[in-house]
Amino acid sequence: MSHPDHEIDSNPTNNPHFESVLSQALASPSRRMVLRGGLGLAGLAVLPGCATLMGASGGQMASALGFPSLDKSLLDDVVLPPGYRYTVLHATGDSLDPKLPAYSNTGAEADDWSRRIGDHHDALDIYFIDAQGRYTETDTGRAVLVVNHESSADAHLMHPQGQTSNGVSGKKFTQFGDWDLGARPELEVLKEINHHGVSVVEVVRGPQGWTMKADSPLNRRVTAQTPARIAGPRAHIDEIRAQMVTRWETSGSMARGTLNNCGHGKTPWGTYLACEENWAFYFQVAGGAAIAAKETTARRRYGVASAPPAAGQTRAISQGWHTVSTTDDRFARWNVAAVGANAERDFRNEANTFGYNVEIDPLSPSSNPVKRVSMGRMAHEGAVCSLPKAGQPLAFYMGCDARNEYIYKFVSTALWDPKDIGGGISVGDKYLNEGRLYAARFDADGRGQWIELTIKDPRIANYAAFKFENQGEIYTQTRIAADAVGATKMDRPEWAAVNPKNGEVYVTLTNNSAANRTPGRVDAANPRAYMDVDGKKGAGNPNGHIIRFREDADTATATAFRWDIFLFGAEEDAGDANLSGLSAKNSFSSPDGLWFSPTTGICWIQTDDGAMTDETHCMMLAALPGQVGDGSKVTAKNRMLVNGVEQTGTQETFVGATLGDARLRRFLIGPKGSEITGVTEAPGGRALFVNIQHPGEESKSVTDLQSQWPGNKGYGRPGRPRSATIVITRSDGGVIGV
Ligand code: FEO
Ligand code: CA
Ligand code: CA
Ligand code: CA
Repeated sequence: MSHPDHEIDSNPTNNPHFESVLSQALASPSRRMVLRGGLGLAGLAVLPGCATLMGASGGQMASALGFPSLDKSLLDDVVLPPGYRYTVLHATGDSLDPKLPAYSNTGAEADDWSRRIGDHHDALDIYFIDAQGRYTETDTGRAVLVVNHESSADAHLMHPQGQTSNGVSGKKFTQFGDWDLGARPELEVLKEINHHGVSVVEVVRGPQGWTMKADSPLNRRVTAQTPARIAGPRAHIDEIRAQMVTRWETSGSMARGTLNNCGHGKTPWGTYLACEENWAFYFQVAGGAAIAAKETTARRRYGVASAPPAAGQTRAISQGWHTVSTTDDRFARWNVAAVGANAERDFRNEANTFGYNVEIDPLSPSSNPVKRVSMGRMAHEGAVCSLPKAGQPLAFYMGCDARNEYIYKFVSTALWDPKDIGGGISVGDKYLNEGRLYAARFDADGRGQWIELTIKDPRIANYAAFKFENQGEIYTQTRIAADAVGATKMDRPEWAAVNPKNGEVYVTLTNNSAANRTPGRVDAANPRAYMDVDGKKGAGNPNGHIIRFREDADTATATAFRWDIFLFGAEEDAGDANLSGLSAKNSFSSPDGLWFSPTTGICWIQTDDGAMTDETHCMMLAALPGQVGDGSKVTAKNRMLVNGVEQTGTQETFVGATLGDARLRRFLIGPKGSEITGVTEAPGGRALFVNIQHPGEESKSVTDLQSQWPGNKGYGRPGRPRSATIVITRSDGGVIGV
C-alpha cells in the first residue's frame, strides 16, 4: 500500500541518531557458507522450498542474469523482457463459489465478498499438495496459493457509484486520508469488511499453465470477521487475554478477523503468517467515557483513533464502519470508545486484538487462524524465517512499517525438528508461542545489537513514558518497549528476506519524509537526507534503501550482527544521492517486496513508489547480491532545503559492492497506478507468481479511471482496474531470470 505524505508518524521518542565517528573498519568479507560448508547435504533436505537449491540444472545458483534490462515504462500493462509472458491467475472479485455470478466489475455485488477474491493483493506464497492431500515441498502440479488482501483504499471501485457517507455517494475515501464520519450504508460496509483478509485457493498446472480451481473444497477466505485464536507464552497468556476482553468474547481468548495484511511469512512447517500492518486506521472513538491516560498513551503510539474528531468536527481517520449500528457487533466493534460499564460491555479493547502475525494452515480450511502475540504487536510488514537448522532455534525477522519504526526478531525456544514439516497449527503452537523478542540497534561502526524486550530490563520496567505492569504488556505495546531500550529508528522497514546462500537477512527501508530525515538527523544505517532533482521532487529519503545483516556465528540466537547497505534507491540523475551507481537501466525507488529464489539465488526487489512515478511505474528488479562487507565505507553528502533554508551535512556508512548493469536489472514494470508486491515460484523456478496491487490507485472516480488493467488486456469484464496475481513463464519453458 502506498503511504501518502499525511500518514501519521507516531514515534515521539528521542532514540539516538548515530553521528559518532566510525571506529571500526569492516571485517573480512570472507565468511563460511552456511549451506554449502556448514550444513551439508543432510541439512539441505530439511529446508523448505529448497529442493532445487543447487539450481534447476543441477549446477550452482545463477552467476549472471539472462535477460536484458527493461527501459522505464508508463504503459497500462505489465511489461516483461522479450521471451517472457504473463497470465492472470485471479483478480479482485473473482468467485470462489460456483454458485456465485461472475464478477460484474460495476459494484453490483451483494454481500458475497467472503466468497470472492479480496482486494489489494499483497504478499503471497504457495503450498504444494501430495497425493494424500498433505503438504509437500515438491512440485506436484497441485497447490494452494495464499494471498494477502491489504486494504480498502480502492473500496470505491466495489460500489456502484463509489463510497457513500451521509447519503452522498461517489466518494473516494482513502485509508490514510480525512474521513467524513457520516453514517455509511450497511451493504457497503459489509463488502468492505469482507474484502479484507486472506484468500486461499487451489491452483493446478495444466496445458494452459497454472489456473485457479474455482470449485475446490480447499478454497477459503479469511476476512476481517473470521474467528481467530489468541495465543501467547504460557506464563503470560492471562496477562495478554486481560487486554483482549470484549463484549463479543469476555475471556479474551478469541478475536475476530485480520486486517490490512501486507507482508507475510512461510513457516518451515508449511503454514502461512499473514502480517497485520495498518490495522490502526480502522477504529474510531465515538462517544463514551474518558479513556485512561495510560491507554491514551498506548493508542497514540500506535495511531489508534489518535486524531479523534474534536467537538463540532466530523472528520478523522477511520473507515466509518462503526457508524452502521451501535448494537450489531459486526459494526459496533470498530468503535473503541468506553461506551459500556466495563470492557465486557463494549469494544474498548478491540484494537488490542490487531497488530499481530496471524498463522493460517493453508491445507486445513476449517482451522481457526491464530494470532501469535509472542511475536509482538506492531505494523507488521513481514515475518521471514532464518534458514532452519535441525536442533537449533528458529528466528523470524520482522519490520514495523511506519516512519521511524524498528526492526525486530523473534527467536523460538523450541529447537527445529524437520519431522514437524506438515504438522499445521499445532506445530505453530510449539515454535511461535514460547520465545524471546528483540529489537535492533544499528551502530555506527557497522555492528548491531539485538536488545531483548523483557520486563527484567530496568529501562523497560522503569520507563517513564509508559508503566509496564508485566511481560504481557510488552507483547501488546511492543513499540513502546522498543522505545525504552533505544532501538534504531529506521526509514520505514518493509519486507525482510533471507539469502539462501549464506543466511544473511535483507530488509527494505522504503523511504522517509523530509520531516524525519534532514542532514542534521541521519545516522549510519539511515544516512541520506536529500532532494529529488526533478519531477516529483520529494525530500528526506524519498527513494529508500535496502539494509542487510549477518548474525554473529550465523546463529538464530545471536545478540549481535554486522550490517551494510545493499542498495540505495535513487534516480540515475540524483547526483550524490546515487550511492549505488544506478543507471537509467536499473534505477528504482521505494523498495518494498523482497524475496530470494531458492533455485537461482536471485534477489527479487519490488517497489511501491510515488517518488519516481513521473518517469516509470512501479517495478520488479532482479539482483545478484554478494555478501555483507563486500563493498566499502562511503560518505553520504547530504543537501536539502529544511524550512526553506539549505542544510548540508555528511554521514559515513557502509555500502555493498556496486552491482552495475550486469547484476541489477529491471525485469517487470506494472500498469498505471500499481504497486508490485508478493513473489514466489513453483519449485524449479519455471513459473513466478507476482501480485499487481491497486492498478489505477489514483483514479478520481469510478468513471474517471487512471488504469483499466487487466480488463484492457482481456481478463474479465473491461472497465474498472483490479488487483491480480499473475503467473510469469518463459516461452521456452526455462528458469526465470537466468
Ligand atoms: Fe503494506 Fe508497508 O506496505
Ligand atoms: Ca525525479
Ligand atoms: Ca530524473
Ligand atoms: Ca508493503
